[in-house]
Amino acid sequence: LENGLARTPPMGWMSWGYYRCGVKCEEGEHKCLNEQLILSVADSFYNEGYQEAGFEYIIIDDCWSEKKRDRNGRLVANKKRFPHGMKYLADYIHARGLKFGMYTNVANTTCMRYPGSLSHMELDAKTFAEWGVDYLKVDGCYVSEEILNTAYIQLGRYLNKTGRPMVYSCSWPYYIQYIHQQMPDYEEVARYCNMWRNYHDVQTSWDSIADIVRHYRGEYALLAPYHGPGHWNDPDMLIFGTGVLTHSQSRIQLTVFVMMSAPLLLSCDMKKITPYEKSLLQNLDLMAIAQDPLGIMAEPYGVTGCTLWIKPHLPRKGDQFPSYSLAIMNLDADSSDVSFRLSTYNLNATDGYTILDVFSGEFIRNVTYNDKIEVTVPGLAMTVEKCEPLRIVDHINTYGKCLVDK
Ligand code: GLA
Ligand code: GLA
Repeated sequence: LENGLARTPPMGWMSWGYYRCGVKCEEGEHKCLNEQLILSVADSFYNEGYQEAGFEYIIIDDCWSEKKRDRNGRLVANKKRFPHGMKYLADYIHARGLKFGMYTNVANTTCMRYPGSLSHMELDAKTFAEWGVDYLKVDGCYVSEEILNTAYIQLGRYLNKTGRPMVYSCSWPYYIQYIHQQMPDYEEVARYCNMWRNYHDVQTSWDSIADIVRHYRGEYALLAPYHGPGHWNDPDMLIFGTGVLTHSQSRIQLTVFVMMSAPLLLSCDMKKITPYEKSLLQNLDLMAIAQDPLGIMAEPYGVTGCTLWIKPHLPRKGDQFPSYSLAIMNLDADSSDVSFRLSTYNLNATDGYTILDVFSGEFIRNVTYNDKIEVTVPGLAMTVEKCEPLRIVDHINTYGKCLVDK
């Protein structure tokens, strides 16, 4: 959607992955989606370095409202859990330079059976705008293919009519493909939405992450053409801070999302993010790769049992050739020796490249495009290297060493 928004993939936090419906506050904080939680995420973004790393949107997912609209047909925030209403949250978030997101569905209820927007599109768009919403996630449960194909467009028009800039996040293609078993019309989706879910909901487990990573690797050719500034494929949330990922696993999820230029949405109790996870999320070189202005989805290539992801960047000032980020991913338990030449992937800078390790920030070495690059990638690991036209380099490796043989 060319509305001037989401020129780079949105980064932030969203409630669903960890808090789910979050209505059982009496059973503890981890089951409670309420005002306190949202304020605490804003404080954490603001005070703990996340905002500087680019995390910006704080998004309330399903189950935020009363079960019924008010007598004027308006949506009402749940009075117990959001006693000051949504505008109060938006103001608090905006005062910290952050942005506020909310959720609805294109049916008459949400997926969890709270009021949905199908028969109230114009009023709901107005309500969200009045509340100061900057981002709207719109789900697609319980409606026909025909409604999906018309309602997202219609709701987008009403959002536009409010005059308030709102990132428009759609689940349209997911429901077309997995509920109605049809091929989504991605050209249409990219014209009307800033981002869209294509695949199943993330679960709090490594199996779910591995499945998502394999899925997007497999769908690269289909999805990459529709991915770019203003319109992004959305592989769903990061599961950092939930205690289920090892270091390598967290590194794999984040790196694949970064290399894809996917939206980066956390979903957790911010206090539970480990120091290691925090160091990845606040690695500014890594975040710069994710936020590269070209927003090109890395292309995955198979190399000796590993996946080599290659992502071109906007050339640095004065450079004739682009720089690239390379990430080598090993999803198997056994370590793998990978060797390749940059020229195979059309990295042809005349003077060669400087290779940098993005995780450590270390210089690895200079190579020509024809040198054989050999990397040992331990089982279940991810390296990231950035190859820049010879001059300087930033890069990424992590595990193992990057050996170069002529
Ligand atoms: C769907 C979406 C999830 C979440 C829930 C809320 O499953 O895909 O991301 O929004 O609905 O009910
Ligand atoms: C238009 C507006 C945006 C936003 C979108 C939503 O493009 O300019 O601010 O409201 O519509 O569809």
